[in-house]
Amino acid sequence: MKRFLVLIAILGATTTSFAQDITTLEKIGPVVSVQRTSNGVTLSCQDNSQVQLSILASDLIRIRASFTKPIPARDHSWAIAKENWTTPRWDISETPDLITITTDELEVTLHRSPLLIEFRDARTHQLINSDERPMSYDANGRLASMMFDPKAGMFVAASKKLGFDEHFYGLGEKAARLDKRRSSFVNWNSDTPGYTENKDPIYQTIPFYIGLQRGIAYGIFFDNSYRSYFDFGKSSQQRAWFGAEGGELNYYFFYGPSIKKILGRYADLTGHMPLPPLWALGNQQSRWSYYPDTMVEEVVSEYRKRDLPLDVVHLDIDYMNGYRVFTFNKERFPDPKALTEKLGRQGVKVVTIVDPGIKNPPDKNERYHAFDEGLAKNFFQHRRNGDLFVPRVWPGESVFVDYTMPEARKWWGDLHRVYTDNGIAGIWNDMNEPSDFVDQTGKNQLDVVSYDEGEKSTHAKNRNTFALLMSRATYEGLERLRPDRRPYVITRAAYAGIQRYATMWTGDTNSTWDALALNIPMFTSLGLSGEPFVGSDVGGFIGRGNGELLVRSYQVSFLAPFCRNHKVIDGYDQEPWRFGKYYEDIIRKYLKLRYTLLPFLYTTLEEAHRTGVPLFRPLVLNYQDDPSTYNLDDQFMIGNDLLVAPILKPDVSKRLVYLPAGTWYDYWTNKKYAGGTMISVDAPLDTVPMFVRGGAMIPVGPSMNYVGEKPADPITFKIYPDDNGSASGALYEDDGLSPAYKTGAFRRTTFTARRGPRGFTGSVASQEGTYNPGPRRTNFVSATDERR
Ligand code: GLC
Repeated sequence: MKRFLVLIAILGATTTSFAQDITTLEKIGPVVSVQRTSNGVTLSCQDNSQVQLSILASDLIRIRASFTKPIPARDHSWAIAKENWTTPRWDISETPDLITITTDELEVTLHRSPLLIEFRDARTHQLINSDERPMSYDANGRLASMMFDPKAGMFVAASKKLGFDEHFYGLGEKAARLDKRRSSFVNWNSDTPGYTENKDPIYQTIPFYIGLQRGIAYGIFFDNSYRSYFDFGKSSQQRAWFGAEGGELNYYFFYGPSIKKILGRYADLTGHMPLPPLWALGNQQSRWSYYPDTMVEEVVSEYRKRDLPLDVVHLDIDYMNGYRVFTFNKERFPDPKALTEKLGRQGVKVVTIVDPGIKNPPDKNERYHAFDEGLAKNFFQHRRNGDLFVPRVWPGESVFVDYTMPEARKWWGDLHRVYTDNGIAGIWNDMNEPSDFVDQTGKNQLDVVSYDEGEKSTHAKNRNTFALLMSRATYEGLERLRPDRRPYVITRAAYAGIQRYATMWTGDTNSTWDALALNIPMFTSLGLSGEPFVGSDVGGFIGRGNGELLVRSYQVSFLAPFCRNHKVIDGYDQEPWRFGKYYEDIIRKYLKLRYTLLPFLYTTLEEAHRTGVPLFRPLVLNYQDDPSTYNLDDQFMIGNDLLVAPILKPDVSKRLVYLPAGTWYDYWTNKKYAGGTMISVDAPLDTVPMFVRGGAMIPVGPSMNYVGEKPADPITFKIYPDDNGSASGALYEDDGLSPAYKTGAFRRTTFTARRGPRGFTGSVASQEGTYNPGPRRTNFVSATDERR
């Protein structure tokens, strides 16, 4: 019996019960009247429900349903960046059974009775997505006993027919494989150290997914911050459904057919990632915790001595005075400004961690400015009965800021002056699920009320957006304090729209091979969810790794936007040199390679900023017509051109690599391959299999140990010709630091190259922007065995 109970406890800890049966829910009533609006229709239903369909763009439709009552006038979401859309050309036609709305791209058919919605391609009339049952709500409290917070509101759900060969992608940060088919998930931001595959939920909530069938993609963003559920054919092969424990049934339907187009629209709707400073693409080193200051200096000097590239060092919680955010510990860091200046002279920036918990000093005579001011201004969260909410985090009893209050966000942002004045270059926001040691599930916070634009809503609605607003307050503060610099913020938790304010890492992973293998589907899924700037603790955070694991981990992360080695306080040391010279030499090779590839990485990052298409991609994003890519998650691509197939198991030095159709070149040997097949390649420890797409030109710069160490001169385009002997590529340049790129101070050049009788000739195909990179040479070299 005891063993059985233990087993239940273990199961309970690693899986979430998912008992909601949406087939028991009340269905929305049939349509009784149709009212045309400027950008769509409002349907009134027999049961007094209303459904609003709004055309935002010819490939973007919003559906908003209100059950048994009219659509409320209040319409607010923290996720949405763009509200004013220019309504495109559209049409409506009505028959006794149907209402049909068409744009240039979409045809939406609304069946009146029962009320069912179908989305078709307007040109081919091919069905893309259709309701499996009418939108539903829990009229009789049937699910109340299964709800995490029975008082949250009313369960609402939408259910879509599941295609026989439909694949599902995105949904943000999930400890799961790339294709989410036959899986189900919960969104409830949770502090989950040491999570393993299928642990759910973890830190973030991005209720956006992409469906793909027969090469045709659509997207659904269920903009509801309550605890939400997504089932992609796990409980039944009839349906893929999503629902939430409260709030509105409010979703956006995106039509591709290309995934890239969907990601562009999603970025338009929820915000494009601004460019971080270029040095954020540099190598980063962290530890819980480097102290005192001399130890930080030692780490940096070790990097320099060993000729290992480094741009950023992180200070974890021990830099503070007793974990009081916005303070420095006077013994450990007596002169933070002198430290940042000294490291700055070696080309290294300092990022400090800032947690949401503000210490609530047990000694009431203690003066702590962050607590005293926040209390006086009434910026802290309270319980419904008016008591201050007192969670326990690193500093012991603490308080959280109510970031839904604009003045509180401004105050929080301004508190960062202590960091900017001391030369701190970026802020790392952690523990913002928000984590509470009293109770990690969130149950202890359910009666915490937030201002929420005057709605005074509870935790059920605000938990999942807490980190979004904290990161926003941090980002906007840095923007105000240093208007000529791009803010650099890193976050652990998130809600949709987070890309406007923060980059992210995947939290407290294990130093295991399984955790390493999860890096790829997690990074690529985050990229498919609007979060391009991702990474994971290189080497893993918890547990003892080894040299082999660390090397293989760098062979994934050396091309991830966020490349930071980080380790738990009691873990074995894990800096690149800690396992001996053999491993260190290999790590150096990959870090150096990252730095020469910076022009390519930055160009691809700018593409992510501009188009919403991430740089770290699953193959399906570039080859969505190729079913062999649909669940391929042990390979990835950087942009359109670089394919990487890391080793994710110990003691393995060979693997199969899938090359999609086309010509490919082995990055190391330049051997040419015809794609559309699986090949077997050698991958000894010092080699990660990498291939370049035929037809690509990869810009590379000089070798450096930090960004700005040398001018990016020359830029060499490595030419990998297609079968016709041509190639094309791009280079994005700006000052790498200021926000001037937003007003045109950049240069984006596209180049082409053709093989002629005397080798390749490169030429500029187009040039945009006002930025002048200064004198620098551009070389074109054939990277392959073919004649120059
Ligand atoms: C959390 C973070 C981890 C950090 C630690 C101490 O566990 O995820 O990165 O080192 O807190 O601040």
